[in-house]
Amino acid sequence: MLKGKNILLGITGGIAAYKCAGLARLLVKQGCDVKVVMTPLARQFVTPLSMATVTRHPILVDFFNPENGEWNSHVSLGLWADAYLIAPATANSLGKMANGIADNLLLTSYLSARCPVFVAPAMDLDMYAHKATQRNLDILRADGVNIIEPESGFLASGLEGKGRMAEPEAIVAALDAYFAEQQDLAGKTVMITAGPTYEKIDPVRFIGNYSSGKMGFALAEECARRGASVKLVVGPVSLKTSTPNIERIDVESAQEMHDAAVALSDIADIEILCAAVADYRVAQQADHKIKREKTGAMTLELVPNPDIAAELGRRKRDGQLMIGFALETNDEQQNAAGKCERKNLDFIVLNSLRDQNAGFRYDTNKVTILDRNGDVTPYDLKSKALVAKDIIDYALKKLNK
Ligand code: CTP
Repeated sequence: MLKGKNILLGITGGIAAYKCAGLARLLVKQGCDVKVVMTPLARQFVTPLSMATVTRHPILVDFFNPENGEWNSHVSLGLWADAYLIAPATANSLGKMANGIADNLLLTSYLSARCPVFVAPAMDLDMYAHKATQRNLDILRADGVNIIEPESGFLASGLEGKGRMAEPEAIVAALDAYFAEQQDLAGKTVMITAGPTYEKIDPVRFIGNYSSGKMGFALAEECARRGASVKLVVGPVSLKTSTPNIERIDVESAQEMHDAAVALSDIADIEILCAAVADYRVAQQADHKIKREKTGAMTLELVPNPDIAAELGRRKRDGQLMIGFALETNDEQQNAAGKCERKNLDFIVLNSLRDQNAGFRYDTNKVTILDRNGDVTPYDLKSKALVAKDIIDYALKKLNK
């Protein structure tokens, strides 16, 4: 799976850095193109000359080349890489990454990397077990960083315990497994509705809602990363898509979203209804700006919008998988299970507005999956990227049953 992959190897200043020449060599043998960025201290543990010889690329340490002023662009490194592997990752660098500190090229590259990031921590056992380190690792996990757990054994300190960097073979195997998993949606088409809908009142006003589209975009990114062809039918949001195998279809109203989703339903293997669709639209859109009346209240007549999920549920083919969302404030499980049944979904992802830091506009979410067969699976509060992974893992298990 690693053949042809661009791997950016970040080396921080720990004794395990001496293993990096072997690690880079293994990656090169697998067919990877490896570029190396080091912290200034890492140079004391493994020489840039060794790393440059193994990888056949100059080693980057500083923001610019002092000889000629040439700029080492962390942005282009981050865009070039298919994966950024930081090995060894010291407690110090992990702490900086968790807190967005960017005082060297390795760290600025982390902040601008759009690819998956892996860290292989290496440190003394007490440093590894310390609450601060574990807290930082939890933050990084929630940010979507893949942690390659250290091993137990003899440490440079002479002590014995957990903290030794995973062996190069194990690190390469972790990367390989990641890229293999990435392709488990290859050949599948996934249609996702996301964001709010806007229902026009007049040329300058609309009825809308607070949906940011973040959950739908996280799902689209996850599916695209795993090899699917993604059709993202999205209401008005400010988010951007950067992945090539996401085709974005921008819509505004529920009716437009309905028409786009129905048109795609014949080719979709998986349909994910993540949009916060307005249930009603105004009966008569004014073609001019409505003026304030001098006295009295104003009444807008609303008529129902089509229920996109229910319509797709009616059209569902054998082997097609449908996933819905429910945001509830009370009687959560009962309401969500009712929607799952009514709309002919295979499972529904429930979030409750009673959970803190979950739902609209947040970067995190806490969900429970309710399966049509009655299974209930609760998940912890996590980043929307990790929630997306849980949902797709669940969907694949059902699809492959
Ligand atoms: N949905 C849809 N089209 C609609 C309304 C909802 O596709 N017009 C989808 C949502 O994307 C979601 C699921 O149906 O996957 C449940 O949405 P929700 O708004 O909670 O459902 P409603 O049936 O509108 O129920 P409620 O009375 O709670 O608004």
